[in-house]
Amino acid sequence: MPVPTYSLRMEHISKSFGPVQALKDVTFAARPGTVHALCGENGAGKSTLMKVLSGVHMADAGRIHLHEEPQAFTKPSEAIEAGISMLYQELDLAEHMKVYENVFLGREIMSAIPFRIDAPAMIRQTRELCEQYGFRLDPEAPISSLTPGECQLVELLKALMRNARVIVMDEPTSSLSEGEARTLFGIVRELRERGLTIIYISHRMEEVMDLADDISVLRDGEVVCSDRRENMNVDDVVRHMVGRELKDYYPARDVEVGDVCLEVNGLSSEEGVEEVSFEVRKGEVVGMAGLVGAGRSELARALFGVVRPSAGSIRFGGRELNIKHPSDAIRQGMALLTEDRKRTGLCAGLPCGWNITLPNYERIGMKTLLKLAKERELCEQLGSKVKVKWEGPDAPANSLSGGNQQKLLVARWLMADAEFIIFDEPTRGIDVGAKKEVYTIINELAFQGKAQLIISSELPELFGICDRILVMRRGRIVGNFVTAETSPEKVMHAAAVEDNGL
Ligand SMILES: Nc1ncnc2c1ncn2[C@@H]1O[C@H](COP(=O)(O)OP(=O)(O)OP(=O)(O)O)[C@@H](O)[C@H]1O
Ligand SMILES: [Mg+2]
Repeated sequence: MPVPTYSLRMEHISKSFGPVQALKDVTFAARPGTVHALCGENGAGKSTLMKVLSGVHMADAGRIHLHEEPQAFTKPSEAIEAGISMLYQELDLAEHMKVYENVFLGREIMSAIPFRIDAPAMIRQTRELCEQYGFRLDPEAPISSLTPGECQLVELLKALMRNARVIVMDEPTSSLSEGEARTLFGIVRELRERGLTIIYISHRMEEVMDLADDISVLRDGEVVCSDRRENMNVDDVVRHMVGRELKDYYPARDVEVGDVCLEVNGLSSEEGVEEVSFEVRKGEVVGMAGLVGAGRSELARALFGVVRPSAGSIRFGGRELNIKHPSDAIRQGMALLTEDRKRTGLCAGLPCGWNITLPNYERIGMKTLLKLAKERELCEQLGSKVKVKWEGPDAPANSLSGGNQQKLLVARWLMADAEFIIFDEPTRGIDVGAKKEVYTIINELAFQGKAQLIISSELPELFGICDRILVMRRGRIVGNFVTAETSPEKVMHAAAVEDNGL
């Protein structure tokens, strides 16, 4: 048998954050010219392991070898120098700067005489690299004008410009459209052909099974399995992740749908929502499908008073509503779980508990008197209801893993006890077990008679949990299907086809 050669070996790595042991004696090795998927539930330690690799965290114990050379990174720049680049779960670009400025950030090319930043050289090199890899990007475009997929390409350019040999991608597709994700997979395969090692973290099992050559699974900070892809199927990987078989992924719901709760008529907004009309009944779970950019989040923003509608009306609980601000919407009994938890959801530096209670102070009677014990008790209850993995309500929100931050936001809107809830991509970044928990919560809310609108880019999810599925395209509703009477093909067709007579 040939001796396996590894581009990367991490041996006996342990890492604790205070009392939390995030990694326990982890040994992980990856081969050159392969995609190595790293799977595990939320909080299993995936990002932490990769942050140890990229010099963000120092391990408490263990060794790292890169191409059989021992390494001791004390800061990210040393890991980058050694050829390791990490694309973070939450992208981290300087938004007000241009593409090439980001690519060269901190490593600007200087001209000798006069001694200053040589922008033309940096633009030229960025353009050359784009051409080499077939990226369609303008080096001089400002980051703020790019789509999430293009931002990802900029991160990749940064890595490639630094001659990375090991590239870590932490949930790279979680904010990409289908098309952008496909482009990314092509690039990942190209990088593999060129002999790079790609470490690929994702909660989307289809992607993992499609791309990976090797798969390692972490559970509670320990490696529970590491093998070639061909020796595993999805069920094996999931079983290793959650430590048990996962049955009834979409729990059954038996709810009598009641009166109309929300009735929207001819709603338009300057963000591109065009004459949208629909209704959601009490106890009903309505899905909203559509391609990225179809106007679904914009509709949510218009309903919730983030932007003022330019036309149309909203009737809620039998009354005409005039919502000027999200606080009005909350007061009236609406809730919105936004899709972008970093920008519009979480207050990352604040304690978890505050993040849950922030929009709810009025509701739980804290406007006049801070009833701290009550707040704490409620937060703890809700935390255990959504099964968030935390040190308790006092822990800062940014100490939670990505998926657990999402659960925190679900807890926030459970506390609001709203009558109408909009969930925008509620399961983004959360693991298979936690997804099932969210579906169970959605079912319970339906059982309590709440009306729910679920925006999701994962069609199987909409088919698994919704009574009806609306389809948006270019700001309009172009389809309204009873889930039991339609098919994913029909919904996709409505979402993508240019002219279906509407
Ligand atoms: N900076 C930090 N301070 C304190 N605890 C942390 C910190 N970073 C991570 N942890 C804890 O370490 C554990 C592992 O977290 P990690 O972010 O590695 O999980 P993950 O596998 O990437 O999960 P996800 O799929 O949700 O992103 C969690 O319990 C988390 O709360
Ligand atoms: Mg993570």
